[in-house]
Amino acid sequence: MNPLETTQQWRDVVALKPPASLGELFATSPERVQSMTLRVGGLLIDYSKQLLDPKIIEALLNVALERDVASAFRDMADGQAINSTENRAVGHMALRSPKGQRSLMNGIDVAPEVHATLDRMATLATAVRSGDYVGATGSRIRTIVNIGIGGSDLGPSMMYEALRSLRSAEISCRFVANVDPADLAANLQGLEPAETLFIVTSKTFTTQETLSNATAAREWLVAALGQTAVDKHFVAVSSNAQAVREFGIDPRNMLAIWDWVGGRFSLPSAVGLAVMIAIGPEAFQEFLIGMHSMDAHARDSVGADNAPLMLALINIWNSTVLQSRSRVVMPYSFDLRRFPAYLQQLVMESNGKTVRKDGSLVPYATSPVVWGEPGTNAQHAFMQLLHQGTDVVPVDFIGFARSDSSDKNRQGLLFANMLAQSQALAFGQPQDTQQERHRNFSGNRPSTTIVAAELTPRVLGELIALYEHVVFFEGAMWGINSFDQWGVELGKEFATQISQNIADVDDATRHNMDASTHTLLQWFSEQQTNTSQSPLH
Ligand code: F6P
Repeated sequence: MNPLETTQQWRDVVALKPPASLGELFATSPERVQSMTLRVGGLLIDYSKQLLDPKIIEALLNVALERDVASAFRDMADGQAINSTENRAVGHMALRSPKGQRSLMNGIDVAPEVHATLDRMATLATAVRSGDYVGATGSRIRTIVNIGIGGSDLGPSMMYEALRSLRSAEISCRFVANVDPADLAANLQGLEPAETLFIVTSKTFTTQETLSNATAAREWLVAALGQTAVDKHFVAVSSNAQAVREFGIDPRNMLAIWDWVGGRFSLPSAVGLAVMIAIGPEAFQEFLIGMHSMDAHARDSVGADNAPLMLALINIWNSTVLQSRSRVVMPYSFDLRRFPAYLQQLVMESNGKTVRKDGSLVPYATSPVVWGEPGTNAQHAFMQLLHQGTDVVPVDFIGFARSDSSDKNRQGLLFANMLAQSQALAFGQPQDTQQERHRNFSGNRPSTTIVAAELTPRVLGELIALYEHVVFFEGAMWGINSFDQWGVELGKEFATQISQNIADVDDATRHNMDASTHTLLQWFSEQQTNTSQSPLH
């Protein structure tokens, strides 16, 4: 395939100018909103406030056709090894395929093992929820502590918060990710060891932070209940049975994930176990149904009807053509407040790349920085820059008509605030006189609004799968591999080296270190041995 920048279709896109005034476009095209709104499952996606016109959309779709992103998607769905640098298939869609449907991964049907694992999860979740599963002393489990990081944390912790209203009152979940001892300490506070079940979630079971936290958690448990209690209080989610055994968890207490599931795509696997325990297997199944329906939509919808493809093209228009180097995601939903953090990994670990699949360097911008906070809090923090700053930062607004609260007034206020922000960004309010310039709102600042009636498990599944497929189509357009993450490796290697030197303060061991790192490490060693400084202790 020819490099993107050499194709006529891409040159046609780059030659186009964004519309000068969204206000004018809205005034002159009464059909605009209708034609730029997609309804997929429970989601309504309005991208009419993007800096697009029909010509730009057509040109972008021509690039997608030329890149043949639809066949690239089918290659993923068929289980081909599209993760070229790791020679792996990319199989997260198999995790939510309904029973009875085959899911080929490198030619092998993985559906039976996927469903066997989901069934085991459901059995465990049901037993914990009912109180039939008891700990070493015979007490029922009241708290689940998931220990994992990255994709083994961000998905389940986000989903646990998102589906707050469905959680069992009997069991709560906590999530420990950071190797900072404060994270585990804060999360163990107040817990009764006899009523605590740890889920050590790590696909590789080699992640330093997770193993170190899991070791400390095991010590905490063993100190209270003895070594034999580990069996009843530790479960692993991993693809590495040997490392699980070496850690001291019986592989019979392990739920499998597979190397064809990327960490940031792993939420619908056993990585979601803590959430399944909290909300129950039926609600979790609804979540999988939502994801699967978005998978089918992404595979079967053509051109402008394909929501993830359209959102990917919009992102590429904004970031690669109009040079916006960041994108904000603002859920107008307290329960979705961890969604921006979840998306940061999904998007940036996938598409923060400079090298294409063929080894060439990309001569254009790939993923922008993704960030965000829930509204309305964000309005009183960073929205000033979005309205009047020198950078144009596209926004994804996400909102809901109903919540579990009976307070319709405040839900209305929340929704109104979201609409107000997108309206002010798009249409602004000109103040031309020099004295009033500080009140000028230029408008023409793009946003997409995604809404649903309520944040149900199914809607959450649709929303997550939507963004997953946006990531896929972006990567396919840019020609990069969205499914590896080599960029995190060097930091891990250096962390191992430096942490070895922390234990050994001998200067000689540090001769290979740069001067800055060496000085900071020396300072750290001195501070660690100096216990007399704080007046608070
Ligand atoms: O940070 C790199 C990474 O490999 C992520 O992709 C992954 O989600 C995370 O570490 C955790 O990995 P594991 O589940 O193997 O502990």
